[in-house]
Amino acid sequence: MAQMRLDKFLADMGIATRKELKQIIKSGRVCINGAAVTQPEMKLDAEKSAVTLDGRALNYTRYHYYMMDKPAGILSVTEDKKQETVLSLVTPEMRRMGLFPVGRLDKDTSGLLLLTDDGDFAHRVISPKSGVQKLYYARVDGKLDDADIAAFAEGIVLKDGTRCLPAKLELTGENECLVTVMEGKYHQVRRMLASRGAPVIELRRLSIGALKLDESLGAGGFRELDQTEIQLVYIAT
Ligand code: URA
Repeated sequence: MAQMRLDKFLADMGIATRKELKQIIKSGRVCINGAAVTQPEMKLDAEKSAVTLDGRALNYTRYHYYMMDKPAGILSVTEDKKQETVLSLVTPEMRRMGLFPVGRLDKDTSGLLLLTDDGDFAHRVISPKSGVQKLYYARVDGKLDDADIAAFAEGIVLKDGTRCLPAKLELTGENECLVTVMEGKYHQVRRMLASRGAPVIELRRLSIGALKLDESLGAGGFRELDQTEIQLVYIAT
């Protein structure tokens, strides 16, 4: 890996603000290969150099990937002047990494939300061209039947005339279903079901590709994903 500055190495990892980092480095708390370093501009090899902060080893990762069980009632944006956002639920260290939500879940939708600082990854997950499947559980007010399954498979035309890509509808109970879509138009699943006379009462995203929501996280819980889990996103189920 190319050489990089020590302050960038630490900033990419969300260790502290740029200003704090300067102080931390100047006070000799950071060592490279066992020797204390006090210059923020010192160059190192992020893969080969052994970097410690207060004796704790720091393993460099340029990009970060988290899953969250987004609670209903919270906005999936990075900032809002009035309302709570998913970024207010994470640690200050994660906020400093510059994480953002991969696509949006409506305020009232809960479930699997990915957070990352990797723009290319986010684009690939969101773009309909990538064909990444998003699976939702919906509780609806209305009855769905085989004609609705066929209409979803054909491609629903929303009330405003927008045509959706073919999607999968599975009926799982009296007023419950699973919907798989490969795109993310505004309020898409709600609008698709409403167009079939079954407005959504509850909506929860369960998986993205073969990556399933870790239900043990609980509402508002989050955890980092490893490389194997990240690749699951691209696997069709
Ligand atoms: N479709 C919706 O209608 N809402 C979401 O939050 C996600 C998909």
